Amino acid sequence: MEAIEAILTRKSVRQFSDTEIEEEKIEILLKAAMAAPSGVNKQPWKFMVVKNEEAKKKIIDVMPYGKYKSPIIIVPCVRDLEVVPLMHDLAYCDLGAASENILLAAHALGLGAVWCGIYPSKKRTKDIKKALNLGVGISPFSAIYVGYPDPQNTTKIKDKFKERNYKIIE
Ligand SMILES: Cc1cc2nc3c(=O)[nH]c(=O)nc-3n(C[C@H](O)[C@H](O)[C@H](O)COP(=O)(O)O)c2cc1C
Repeated sequence: MEAIEAILTRKSVRQFSDTEIEEEKIEILLKAAMAAPSGVNKQPWKFMVVKNEEAKKKIIDVMPYGKYKSPIIIVPCVRDLEVVPLMHDLAYCDLGAASENILLAAHALGLGAVWCGIYPSKKRTKDIKKALNLGVGISPFSAIYVGYPDPQNTTKIKDKFKERNYKIIE
């Protein structure tokens, strides 16, 4: 799929079929994530690919708006201890770029995905850290549910292009 087409036709998918995702596709998702731009090229990330049913249930239990059943949940995390305090905000920008790359790559591969927010909620950060036993120095940023879209899925692409949301300064 061409890049512009992928960007313009991506939409959040929240209903998935049970079909497993091929390992090669998971690797492409991870490569896309790590290809994201990164402030001072720190690449302050670690991507947890959660396949284990028990661990997925623990995530779903604590995500108030992420009660979706998917073959995998990718949890992009910040490696806190390797980021100096001033760089912390930059690290979260990097994780946003990486999360979007995962969504776009999933779509281009015929998969569907939805980004569910963890950061900046302190409670969700704490709950997911505990659920995944992340330990010191690793903070979850988002939970991205990925799978083949359920054929019954009826979500439409939203046209978000709005005149009032841009201005050309000549
Ligand atoms: C930071 C962020 C947090 C989000 N959190 C949730 C969430 O908790 N649950 C959910 O179902 N969707 C979540 N979404 C997805 C948005 O609801 C979705 O992107 C938005 O409705 C626009 O729809 P689209 O992605 O189909 O264009 C989140 C998206 C972002 C960028």
